[in-house]
Amino acid sequence: MATAMRAGKIASTAPLIFGIVAAAATVPVSIGAPATTDNAAYKWHLPRGFPIPAVPVDNPMSSVKVALGRRLFFEPRLSVTGQHSCGSCHEPTKAYSDGRALAVGATGETLSHSAMSLVNVAYNISYGWTRPQLQSLEAQMLEPLLNEHPVELGLAGRQARVCDLLAAEPTYRAAFAQAFPETAQPVTFDNLIKAIAAFERTLIHGNSPFDRYVFNGEHEAISGQAKRGMQLFYSSRAGCGSCHSGFNFEGNWRDAQGETGKPGFADNGVGDQPMRVPTLRNIALTAPYMHDGRFPTLDAVLNHYASAAERHVGDARLRSFNLSADERADLIAFLNTLTDPGLLAPATLR
Ligand code: HEC
Ligand code: HEC
Repeated sequence: MATAMRAGKIASTAPLIFGIVAAAATVPVSIGAPATTDNAAYKWHLPRGFPIPAVPVDNPMSSVKVALGRRLFFEPRLSVTGQHSCGSCHEPTKAYSDGRALAVGATGETLSHSAMSLVNVAYNISYGWTRPQLQSLEAQMLEPLLNEHPVELGLAGRQARVCDLLAAEPTYRAAFAQAFPETAQPVTFDNLIKAIAAFERTLIHGNSPFDRYVFNGEHEAISGQAKRGMQLFYSSRAGCGSCHSGFNFEGNWRDAQGETGKPGFADNGVGDQPMRVPTLRNIALTAPYMHDGRFPTLDAVLNHYASAAERHVGDARLRSFNLSADERADLIAFLNTLTDPGLLAPATLR
């Protein structure tokens, strides 16, 4: 009864959000077609309302593999300098982004794009700001590991050497053997990639005040100001929810049943080509904003959106709107409720 009343209240204040809740309630608990028996055994720690991610059949999940992947993700020997790792550009407390406008590779070269957050990356259909064709974490990883122009980790031509280094260390040798029990020589570059991808799939965070309010019915989890901002966000006046949609505030998601969101890519008036609609979860932790980090604050982002339609740049879904100072503060207060405090907890500091 109490739950029904709470759900009713959410439904009346935010019909679109209720749509998300209703969709979440129909997510089956069993794992669908793309997953394997091993994945059924894997214990996902999914927040309420989150679907089970799809997993490639040739890289089933296991907890030993995830633990190995976590270690490799922060392993500086996976770089030409011996001082950089995935974690250098994807820091846990910045929702696995890096705080820079443009990322900087191991040898000091500046990349053309901003490092993306990796939170909830398991749900992506594609990877990268401009690459709809890049469709698995395993395939994506070849870029940071091997890219030469510019260098990210700089391992091109060094794959065998890195594997030898790891195989020479007993704890790594044992971990690879446990994670890939079916192979005689488990310390391979391919398996290294698989382990890191398995770890990335566990970076699922959905315990923000927003989630507690919408999915757990905790009415006081977000302030009255943030509730007003939430209505604005989903209103046709600001139009944010038409692109930053679904449980992950983006359009580029897929679950194990093959359900997808949209639009994956759009022109929001910033670039000269459509860009990935990025998630807005944990947005307070991932400044500066956009694919080139051009906006230092959420206020600057709102300035852009308020005038984009007026300037006739970007997608038709963009609205031209005037926000009062109070409304602008409301919208930002709402965006700030999308941060999962678990990302800042000591347990995630590795
Ligand atoms: C030098 C900094 C840097 C390093 C090191 C780095 N990345 Fe990235 N990462 C980036 C940038 C920049 C992007 C955005 C790429 C683009 O589309 O231009 C990105 C994007 C990604 C994405 C796509 C996320 C999404 O939502 O589409 C994944 C996944 C990822 N990185 C994983 C990794 C892994 C795993 C490693 C280690 C093997 C790694 N990265 C190392 C800078 C880095
Ligand atoms: C037409 C689709 C569309 C609409 C409508 C839209 N966005 Fe976006 N948003 C995007 C795209 C695409 C990007 C990435 C663009 C880029 O980096 O060049 C983006 C990026 C952002 C970012 C930066 C994210 C990051 O990781 O750097 C924020 C914040 C944001 N949008 C907030 C909003 C808000 C608030 C609204 C409503 C006022 C809104 N968006 C409306 C498509 C849209």
